[in-house]
This record gives sequence, structure tokens and C-alpha cells, in this order.
Amino acid sequence: LNYNVERERSYILQVLFNGLRRLEYRGYDSAGIAIDSSSPPPKPQCSSDSKFISSPPLVFRQEGNIESLVKSVYKEVDEIELNLKESFSIHAGIAHTRWATHGEPAPRNSHPQTSGPANEFMVVHNGVITNYEVLKATLILHGFEFKSETDTEVIPKLAKFVYDKANEAAGDQVVTFSQVVLEVMRHLEGAYALIFKSSYYPNELIACKRGSPLLLGVKELEENKDNGSGFEENKFLSKDGKPKELFLSSDANAVVEHTKKVLVIEDGEVVHIKDGGVSILKYENDMGKPGTFSRASSVRRALSVLEMEVEQINKGHYEHYMQKEIHEQPESLTTTMRGRLIRGGSSKSKSVLLGGLKDHLKTIRRSRRIVFIGCGTSYNAALAARPIFEELSGIPVTMEIASDLLDREGPIYREDTAVFVSQSGETADTLLALQYALENGALCVGVTNTASSAIARNTHCGVHINAGAEIGVASTKAYTSQIVVMAMLSLAIGGDTISTKARREAIIDGLYDLPNKVREVLELDQEMKDLANLLIAEQSLLVFGRGYNYATALEGALKVKEVALMHSEGILAGEMKHGPLALVDESLPIVVIATRDACFSKQQSVIQQLHARRGRLIVLCSEGDAASVCPGKSCRTIEVPQVEDCLQPVINVVPLQLLAYHLTVLRGFNVDQPRNLAKSVTTQ
Ligand code: G6P
Repeated sequence: LNYNVERERSYILQVLFNGLRRLEYRGYDSAGIAIDSSSPPPKPQCSSDSKFISSPPLVFRQEGNIESLVKSVYKEVDEIELNLKESFSIHAGIAHTRWATHGEPAPRNSHPQTSGPANEFMVVHNGVITNYEVLKATLILHGFEFKSETDTEVIPKLAKFVYDKANEAAGDQVVTFSQVVLEVMRHLEGAYALIFKSSYYPNELIACKRGSPLLLGVKELEENKDNGSGFEENKFLSKDGKPKELFLSSDANAVVEHTKKVLVIEDGEVVHIKDGGVSILKYENDMGKPGTFSRASSVRRALSVLEMEVEQINKGHYEHYMQKEIHEQPESLTTTMRGRLIRGGSSKSKSVLLGGLKDHLKTIRRSRRIVFIGCGTSYNAALAARPIFEELSGIPVTMEIASDLLDREGPIYREDTAVFVSQSGETADTLLALQYALENGALCVGVTNTASSAIARNTHCGVHINAGAEIGVASTKAYTSQIVVMAMLSLAIGGDTISTKARREAIIDGLYDLPNKVREVLELDQEMKDLANLLIAEQSLLVFGRGYNYATALEGALKVKEVALMHSEGILAGEMKHGPLALVDESLPIVVIATRDACFSKQQSVIQQLHARRGRLIVLCSEGDAASVCPGKSCRTIEVPQVEDCLQPVINVVPLQLLAYHLTVLRGFNVDQPRNLAKSVTTQ
């Protein structure tokens, strides 16, 4: 980011801190920043008479959330502000919020990781370097001392090593920052998005990526009027030559308040920000394997325009993002369906239009099998849609948790259609499963909430769920939008046979009405808060479901476990007698989902059997059914509006989301940043 002295003195800090706040949902156990200072430069630590030493950067790292970092930095704010004011017309700073993979949350393990005490090279990293142990051993042999347990620390140290060697060899010739970084990249294996800063190269940043997401935001770009590419010979400099503000980030949330013009950086591209301008070079070979790079070509790609609004990533009048996202589901579902449901017209028929799929529907219909692949909540959404998919398409649907598919190297065939469901579109396991399915020749369909994500870009076709930015780590509105998109997908694939016409039309009518029904069910908020009060001290909660609502049981239990930190298990009611029944006694609370559908009578009998074992029952049932589902008035009931069976999971999950939310608040845990979890798991 380029800092203009005319602006507020601590602008650079504010921008970096705000960016981190926007990204905190991706990792929040520790954080750090590196900015420049104007104190006299230090002597280089290891080796070489450096030719390029400038002011020594300041690095701050702090355990805990972003605010702990902010506090620790502002303890020294007077000095920093003074230095910033005096020294810079352009400023390049980097910052990072961490979700620990290698090494516990602690300042020494936070990023930026550095080459040594003089901070010659500083690196922020998203991803995992898989060959770091070998690199570390080699660097130790060359005299480097490691201070952290991270995989990342090898990167700045390797940069310093490479820099010193290159300078020895170069004599009077200048070794450029990109030469150093390229040589480092040659040795790195694994997944990464990296930003390098160096005291040797003031006002410069280098960013590169392999596997992990990275985008460049450009404020006030000078468009190339000639060819409309939006790109003028790799320079984002305006006519007056004044530098622009440039932003590099793992995700758009940190950038959107500054600019909506972004370039999604691709694997093998190296972004070089220098003196207020930027150039991007593409290196063709596989960056993950040591080797030489082919000659670079400069990247000329049009900038994309982000469709998100800053308001989307604010909490509004809500206390927590999760709360806001639960309550905005009527709106997010409306947006998901906008322009995609067709009712009326000359034929008076009702249908679904999914533009991203239209060229592939025939191929999908011919598939021998459809495989749904995802992780966490996205997997549950796919599971909720499986029955309607099978019913309308007549094609067998199998479910795959992405990591398990990869562990087994399960069979995927050319005749398969693989549907990848992912809110972020960046989940490492899902992305790797996608690569695997592509290698095996399957037709790959993406269902994501992030149009520029790796999964959206690398699938053959797909549907954007359009639920708006989801910030709460526990997915809520994305889940219901995913189910709706999957239902629309099943309608599109099912085609318009006479035999299914009535059913399809009932579903389309149901979809139109769904936002209103969700609005109704949100009125249960207080009731769910009361229930949460009753359950506040429980150790465990079971959730029984089946059919369409097996997924609801899994998802409800997942919400309770991930945010309220209470053990909770979603159980397929049909399996009750094969183990779970042993747990039932008068102390264990059990939610049974028994709304009206083809499984209703079976669920009634499950309730009877649980009741016979004195289970503490909470039954989620259709409106008006309380008396018929509750034996001897012994249980608590939650009544929800009844909708078309395949859409009922959208309704049924809402009270469970509210329950998880209130339980978390009442138990005093962090709703939006649950312990140990991250929103987007971009490492394996
Ligand atoms: C993490 C998140 C979950 C999410 C899962 C899959 O575990 O905490 O909320 O469901 O990843 O993420 P995706 O972005 O692929 O849907």
C-alpha cells in the first residue's frame, strides 16, 4: 500500500489494522505488522556488505486478536507517527492475522516472520510450506538461527541467504527483489500466498502465490482506453504520475472499502509493487517443484469489479455477524433466487434458469453418477439436497467429504459429474478434490459464494449462490442459500418431463415463498433464547433427523458444537437403535426433527422410543403438530411453518442456528470467532 504524506499521519497503520479487522474471521489467534521507520539503518546481520540497506522496518507481533496488536503498537504510537510523518511519500506495509498451523499462538510464531533481528526480509504467509523441515536444516547449517516453530520462517531466511549469495556473485550488478523472491519460490513446496517486504528494497513489495488465494486491489486505476483491457503496460500509474494506492489481500473483504477494482492473482504470477507502480509477471512452470523458471511474460488482464458493498461486511445494528447473518436470511435467499425462477410467460410454465450451467446441462443429464463434494457446513448443504436431486434427475448421487475422497483416492470417472460446494471457494481439501476430479476427467460444477474464488474459476461451470459476504465463522446464510441453489440445480437438471411437472411447480412455488417462511420462523428468536437458557449448563446435546432432515440434524449439531462449544451430535434417526439409544436417559437433552414429510410416522415412533427411555425431548415439528408429536405432553416443542419437503431443511435449520447463537452468548463464548476454528481453511 502506498502512503501519501498529505494524508493522516498514521494512515498506513489504520489501513493495515482495518484490513486485518476485515480478515480476522479467517484467523484470530495472533497478528502482526511491518512498517518502515526513519531511524538510522542497522548493520546487516548475516554476511555481505549490502548495497541497498535503507531504513529498518518496524515489526510488531502480538498474541491474541487484532485489538491486542493495535494496543501494543499504539503504546509506541508517538514515535511511529513522528517517523511516518517525516519520512515517507510512499509507504509499503504488510500485516497478517494468523490461524496457527505450525507452532502455538505466540508472538514468535506470528507473522511477519523475519530473516533475523535486523528484519532484512519480512514475510506474511497464508498456506503451508510442506518441505520446510529440509529447508530449515539446510539454513541452520549455514548459520541461521530459528526463533519460531513455523513453516513460514524458512522463507525470509531463505530470502536473506539467496540475497547474500546473489550479491556475492553479482559484483557491481544490482540484484533485484524479484530475482531474490523467484529464487526463493524455486525452493518452496506446498501452498502459499506470500507478501515479501525488505529493508534492502524500500517502497517495494513482492507478492506471489501457489494454491492459496491472493488479489490485488487498485485504487483510481488509469484505464487503458485503447484496447479496453483495463491495463496499461503493467503500470498502474495515473497520467499525473502520482502513485495509486495498491492493496494485496487474501480476500476482498479487506479491500472493498478502498476500491472495487481488483485483479485476482493466479498461480505462478509474481506481483511487484515498486515506487507506487505495479508490474505482474507470469512464470509458466510449476512453482511447487524446485526447478528453473521459463521466461516470464507480463500479465495483461482486465481488472474485475467486486460486486460486494462495504455495508455487507459491517454488523449493522446487530451485536454479532452470526446474529446478523441468521436474521438476514430472508434477504440472502431472495438474492440467491433473483432472476433464476421463471413463472408465467406464454406457456405459463414454471422453470429455473441457471445461466452458468446452460451449456452443460445435457452432459450432466447424461452422467452415470453425480458426486457431491464439500467440507463442514457445505457438505451438509449438499446432503440436504441429495434426495431431491435423486428424485428429479434419476441419477444416483454419492456424497464425498473432500478430505476423505482424497485420503481414499476414491474412484471418479469421466462419466461422473462432480459438484463442489464451498462457501469460500478456497477450502484446501475441496480445491484439491477438484484438481483430482479434473485429472480424472469428470465434469466439474462449482457452487460457491465467491465468484472469483479458485473453485469458481477452476470448475467447468457453476452457480454463484449470491448470499453476500458471510463473516461469522459458523456458516448460516450461506448454508440456506446453498440448499436453495442445489434445489434449483436439481430442477434444472431434472428437465421438464410431464411426470414431474406438478412436483417441480410445487417446489418453484415453495421457493418463491421461502423468504417469507424464513421470516416467520425467525420470530422464534425469543423462544430459542429461552431454550438456550434451559440448556446453558448441559454437557451434550443430540439431534435426531432423517430423510431431508438428516442434514439438518448434522448441521444443527455442528452449529452448537462449533460456536457454543458444547458437545453435540447429529444422528440419523434410522440408526438410533444401533448405538445412540444407549446414551439416552433422563438427563440428556435430545432434539428430534419431526416435521411433516414422508418420514413423519417413522419419526413419531422414534419419539415414542426415546420417550420410553425417559429421554428429555425437544421436538421440532410442523405448526399445529405439537400435540401429536409429544407423548403425554412430556416434551418441549418448537413449531415451524411447513413448506415443500425438500425445502423444509431451510426452515428447520433456522431455530437450531438461533439456539446455537443464544447458547454461545449465554455461555460467554466468542460467537464470531469460535475457539480454534477459521472461516476459510486454506491449509490441509
Ligand atoms: C470451515 C468453516 C465452516 C465451513 C467449512 C467449509 O470449517 O468454519 O463454516 O463450512 O470450512 O468451508 P467452505 O468455504 O468450503 O464452505
